[in-house]
Amino acid sequence: MAVFDFDTVINRENTASVKWEQVKQVFGQEDVLPMWVADMDFNPPHEVAEAIKKRIEHEILGYTFIPDSTGEAIQAWLKKRHNWEIHPAWIAYCTGIVPAISTAIQAFTEPGDKVLLQSPVYHPFFRMVEKNGRVVANAQLKLVDNCFEIDWEQFETRLKEGAKLFLSCNPHNPGGRVWTKEELAKMADLCAQYNCLFLSDEIHSDLVYPPHVHTPVAALGETYRDMTITCVAPTKTFNLAGLKASAVIIPNPELRKKFKDVQAVNGTSALNTFGIVGMEAAYRYGGEWLDALLVYLKENIDTAARFIAERLPQIKVMETEGTYLMWLDCRAFGLSEDELKDRLWKKAKLGVEIGRKFGPGGEGFVRINIACPRETLMEGLSRLEKAFA
Ligand SMILES: Cc1ncc(COP(=O)(O)O)c(C=O)c1O
Repeated sequence: MAVFDFDTVINRENTASVKWEQVKQVFGQEDVLPMWVADMDFNPPHEVAEAIKKRIEHEILGYTFIPDSTGEAIQAWLKKRHNWEIHPAWIAYCTGIVPAISTAIQAFTEPGDKVLLQSPVYHPFFRMVEKNGRVVANAQLKLVDNCFEIDWEQFETRLKEGAKLFLSCNPHNPGGRVWTKEELAKMADLCAQYNCLFLSDEIHSDLVYPPHVHTPVAALGETYRDMTITCVAPTKTFNLAGLKASAVIIPNPELRKKFKDVQAVNGTSALNTFGIVGMEAAYRYGGEWLDALLVYLKENIDTAARFIAERLPQIKVMETEGTYLMWLDCRAFGLSEDELKDRLWKKAKLGVEIGRKFGPGGEGFVRINIACPRETLMEGLSRLEKAFA
């Protein structure tokens, strides 16, 4: 097996990095160590840069179509990594998952319709629903023994109240839950019963730690397949967010047509040349790199959990089943949102997300991104200790 280097600290200055070079705007402070937005401080598989360099040797960057080989690479990846058989014709490409969610809201709901989600959850879900003039129907997750569980009664109530589209996040950001087959089937069955479409944002699906296993909801069977819109991307998996490339898998031809019709209006279906080339290279050649990355990330997660248990026992760490985001229950300190910001951002100069941003249920929690070299992680953890000293 090739050796991959995740330990070297890479200086990301002068790359217009949102994570590193916008800390002043986001946290109001200089010298903040950024452990916030879901972006990793590692080089992607080198085959991605190789493919892009090869393409730029031909300097004309004219209109570019997405070749069949890209769809075949995605098809092979999903089969190999998630045992999910798709047909490349089911794919609608999109400039990102957030625009894909917005497109789905426009395609499958009407202004004023209810859109179901489960807070605390990736905050743009709220924005996309509200900015599109739809109404958030929230079935807040339950916290049971420091683990997120679905509140089935609330979930069904929101469906009975008429939600037309469910925005599911699997694996779940910020909680790191990987929903089980049983949970997914039960959610999908309820959605089917109340005629609600199931959009599954699976952007974090390649980042799952054993014994947990990611199940694409559409892979559960034909009935589920026909009611689901599944969003995948190489951008979290391989650290390629700037490429703005994602794939929306819609097996049902009627739904796919509706989705593509909206894309034809808002122009989100044409990917940029490097996004296409980079996406294909990542899915084709990135498997071994990903296996090594997952080992490194898991060691970071365990290191952080041990550090917190020893030095900050007031903080409860939710088990990170997937993603590289850790969800920390800091409620024992009894601090308000502003006090948390003050301690973490100002006093300790640690750029983490304050839980309230993720909606109801996030109050008193903090989300920390541990996808960085161990040296950076240790610095971040010592700042976390300082924040609460
Ligand atoms: C659950 C989830 N969906 C979507 C995105 C962003 O997707 P994109 O950059 O493709 O719009 C993120 C980024 O953190 C995410 O966590």
